[in-house]
Amino acid sequence: MGKDQTYKHISYSETTITELMIPSYSNFGGKIHGGILLSLMDKVAYVCAAKHAGNYCVTASIDTVNFLEPIEVGELVSVMASVNYVGNTSIVVGIRIISQNVKTNTLKHTNTSYFTMVAKDESNKPVQVPGLILETPQQIRRFAEAIKRKELRQNYREEVEHMKTSVDYEQYLELLKSERCLVTLRN
Ligand SMILES: CC(C)(COP(=O)(O)OP(=O)(O)OC[C@H]1O[C@@H](n2cnc3c(N)ncnc32)[C@H](O)[C@@H]1OP(=O)(O)O)[C@@H](O)C(=O)NCCC(=O)NCCS
Repeated sequence: MGKDQTYKHISYSETTITELMIPSYSNFGGKIHGGILLSLMDKVAYVCAAKHAGNYCVTASIDTVNFLEPIEVGELVSVMASVNYVGNTSIVVGIRIISQNVKTNTLKHTNTSYFTMVAKDESNKPVQVPGLILETPQQIRRFAEAIKRKELRQNYREEVEHMKTSVDYEQYLELLKSERCLVTLRN
C-alpha cells in the first residue's frame, strides 16, 4: 500500500446535497420514507469521502441513524457532510440533515449519523487516505468522538462474540425472564 503523506483541510471535502421532498418520497403515513434519507446520506458520504481520499470509496458501515423528527412532503432537505476522522484507509463522515419548511422558512434538525467509508485503489484494494488538518475545537472534538465510537464498537463486537461462544443456554433463559416473550420450546 502506498504511503500518503499529505494532509487536507476539512473544508476541502465538505459537501451538501439539497433536495425537495416530493410526494413519491412519502411512506404510508404521508411522511418522507427513511430509505430516501438513507440514500441521500450515502450519496453525500460518498462525495465527501471521495473528495478527501482522491479515490473511489465504499461504505464500510453506518453508525446509528437517529430519526429525530419526521420530514413532510414539500420540505427542502439539506444533507451536510464533513470528514470527522481519518484512519489509515478509512474515513468517518459525519452527516447532519436539516429540513426547511419553505413556506414558513423554519428549520429543523432531523437526522445525524456517521458513515465509515474506505478508499480503494484501481485494483479494489484499500488505499491510504490523506491525514486531516484540525483547525477548531469542534473539529478536535469530532475527531476524538470518532475514536471513542471505534473503541465502543470494538468492545461491542467482543461482547457479542463472547455471548456466541461462552454464554450458556441457561444464562440466555435468565436474561429473557424480564422480557415480553413466551418461551414454548418444541421438541
Ligand atoms: C469495507 C471493506 C473495504 C473492508 O475490507 P477489509 O479487507 O476488511 O479491509 P481491512 O481489514 O484492510 O480494513 C480497511 C479499513 O476498513 C475499516 N473497516 C473494515 N470493516 C469495517 C466496518 N465494518 N466498520 C468500520 N470500519 C471498517 C478498517 O478498520 C480499516 O480501517 P483503517 O485502514 O483506517 O484502519 C470491504 O469489506 C468491502 O469492500 N466491503 C463492501 C463495501 C460495499 O460494497 N459497500 C456498499 C456499496 S459502496
